[in-house]
Amino acid sequence: MKVAVTGANGQLGSDICAVLRKENHEVVELNHDEFDIINYEFVERILKDIKPDVLINPAAYHHVEKCQNDADMAFSVNATAPFNMAKICKEINALFIHISTDYVFDGLKNAPYIESDCAKPLNNYGISKLAGEQMIATTGCRHLIVRTSGLYGINPCRAKGGKNFVELMLSLAEAGKPIRVVDDEKVSPTFTLDLARQISQLLTIKDSGVCHATAEDFCSWYEFAAAIFEFAKVDANLSMANPGEFAIKVNRPSYSVLENQFLKTRNLNTMRSWKDSLREYLIMR
Ligand SMILES: NC(=O)c1ccc[n+]([C@@H]2O[C@H](COP(=O)([O-])OP(=O)(O)OC[C@H]3O[C@@H](n4cnc5c(N)ncnc54)[C@H](OP(=O)(O)O)[C@@H]3O)[C@@H](O)[C@H]2O)c1
Repeated sequence: MKVAVTGANGQLGSDICAVLRKENHEVVELNHDEFDIINYEFVERILKDIKPDVLINPAAYHHVEKCQNDADMAFSVNATAPFNMAKICKEINALFIHISTDYVFDGLKNAPYIESDCAKPLNNYGISKLAGEQMIATTGCRHLIVRTSGLYGINPCRAKGGKNFVELMLSLAEAGKPIRVVDDEKVSPTFTLDLARQISQLLTIKDSGVCHATAEDFCSWYEFAAAIFEFAKVDANLSMANPGEFAIKVNRPSYSVLENQFLKTRNLNTMRSWKDSLREYLIMR
């Protein structure tokens, strides 16, 4: 199949491109410097020229604090641009796979969220992503909205800069620094390679809708850090941070565990437990 990928050099985008190439798909990489998704006329011209069977959109404005300070940009990139791409996909009869986030939820459920749970984002990032989801659904294009969480991959997250959580923990331990990590935020840390492999299984799907795709099981950030040191056999001066120890600039859900119900009911779930994925990441890095 011919698959176009936006944000192709991003943490997730680069793994999606690599996995699809390995599976002999024709991959068209669309990077920000030459393909800005907010430039509607340009995007329309290029996509109508490429005519992909599938367009995958991991591109996003997703630095949470920047989104809070620049709602216009958050809505342009995370809502209007995906809406426009969905309209183009409808015209060219392409499947649109859009990446979304656990931050559409407020975290108060305290049990794994399924796709049909009511979304209630706490910040501009989550609001703009939810708006994008809803606007895509209005276009009538064939689409999958893939919500994921806590990504880490071999290539760094471009929006956040620097190291992913695993690399940050390992570098702090190597420097012999005391490491304080919160225990009151629950997540399913998800390896981008697993998510890319999962997405590659969805290219021929006939149903449209929202699809949760995160690692199985969950942990607190403290538990994740402890597992990193245990699996990597690294001595670290790790301790649990007190609730409220770190200043909160933007509200975030303290519980954002997602249940992959859409995938499971269709026998399509290939996501592994976060512990198995972490072990593979530590071997590959
Ligand atoms: N990282 C996480 O923990 C996490 C958790 C849940 C959901 N997600 C979602 O997962 C997706 C992928 O995240 P990631 O971690 O792979 O992020 P990333 O490494 O920052 O990748 C995002 C990509 O989007 C590109 N981009 C930004 N603005 C653009 C624009 N206007 N036009 C075209 N491209 C643009 C970036 O290019 P430049 O860097 O050149 O601007 C980058 O290549 C996002 O949709 C995000 O909302 C991420």
